[in-house]
Amino acid sequence: MKKLTLLGGVTPAQFLKEFWHKKPCVIRQAIPGFAPIISREALFEMAGRDDVESRLVTHFRQKWEMQSGPLDAIPAITKRDWTLLVQGVNLHDDAADALLRQFNFLPDARLDDLMISYATDAGGVGPHVDSYDVFLLQAQGTRRWRIGAQQDLTLQAGVPLKILQRFAPSEEFDLEPGDMLYLPPNYAHEGVAIGECMTYSIGFRAPSYQELGESFLQFMTDSIDLPGQYADAELAPTTRPAEISAAMLAQVSAELNKVQFTRDDIAIFLGEYLSEPKSSVSFEPVKRPLTLDKFMALAGKRGVRLSRKTQMLYRGELVFINGESFAVSRADKALLSVLADQRTLDGEAIATASLDVAEALHDWYRQGWLLLEK
Ligand code: SIN
Ligand code: CO
Repeated sequence: MKKLTLLGGVTPAQFLKEFWHKKPCVIRQAIPGFAPIISREALFEMAGRDDVESRLVTHFRQKWEMQSGPLDAIPAITKRDWTLLVQGVNLHDDAADALLRQFNFLPDARLDDLMISYATDAGGVGPHVDSYDVFLLQAQGTRRWRIGAQQDLTLQAGVPLKILQRFAPSEEFDLEPGDMLYLPPNYAHEGVAIGECMTYSIGFRAPSYQELGESFLQFMTDSIDLPGQYADAELAPTTRPAEISAAMLAQVSAELNKVQFTRDDIAIFLGEYLSEPKSSVSFEPVKRPLTLDKFMALAGKRGVRLSRKTQMLYRGELVFINGESFAVSRADKALLSVLADQRTLDGEAIATASLDVAEALHDWYRQGWLLLEK
């Protein structure tokens, strides 16, 4: 695949400073001569699978309708005004994964997925905002984007998708294959297909603090440690037996206030949370796994790579993979952080692995999280 010129002569540092999370940017020929990596037929087939998230949006006779996948029927390509959206294509296809990984000047903790949309003439999903940053790469045909920085984000009532009630775009662009539009969160936009078209959305996730807080408290239930039990040796007779006494409240408050969380607790939570596979993702354990010794001998020759579906992150001496966390030594961390950043390790590096790392790699291989290079 051709390397992205991606930001059209702007360096990643300049792009982040000026545009990222702030304002839209059109990049003409981000990937010169770009050609679709997946055929229309292959995309339609993916939409029929139950391990792939997909949606069909139609706007026939001015009525918005949406159907969630797996889809057993797709409208005729000769019919106008419909869109098929397939989420997480990178989880199922090497070329899609490679395209997504070209955006690795941005952290994996933010990178979400590659969604592919296919539309017939006039197809689109209506004017809306998304809560995430997105790069919209035109893959085939032409899409007309109209965008605007409006404050009024009121949605139309009674429609099965999020459509802005009043859309007041201020700019319009026709994107051709290889062109890319970056949009920050909550920027109003509508893309309409001019003839048959395919658009790739590279989306970035940003968890809400509410979502993080709820998950963090759940995570902490496993680690809180509050010894002792309520005691009231000084109890005096009461004439108001239904009242919770101030003394009881004070004692319980003092005890519950002992629940503390450290930066380490937060780091472990965050790494596990951000590396947790989506509910639609499943791994296939290797059917007849090699023994540890055989695996390491082969890995030392061929190298290993992470499965497309694996999310591996690190922070300090903590390493996270698919929702699990490990505290590792400095030397092991040096090796594992290369695997996490590059998503591959060559044989030479593997030959230096400690027994702990060898066992971890073998375990991940057996679970289908990591593969031997061919
Ligand atoms: C599309 O590709 O059809 C929609 C993408 C978007 O507007 O977010
Ligand atoms: Co959008």
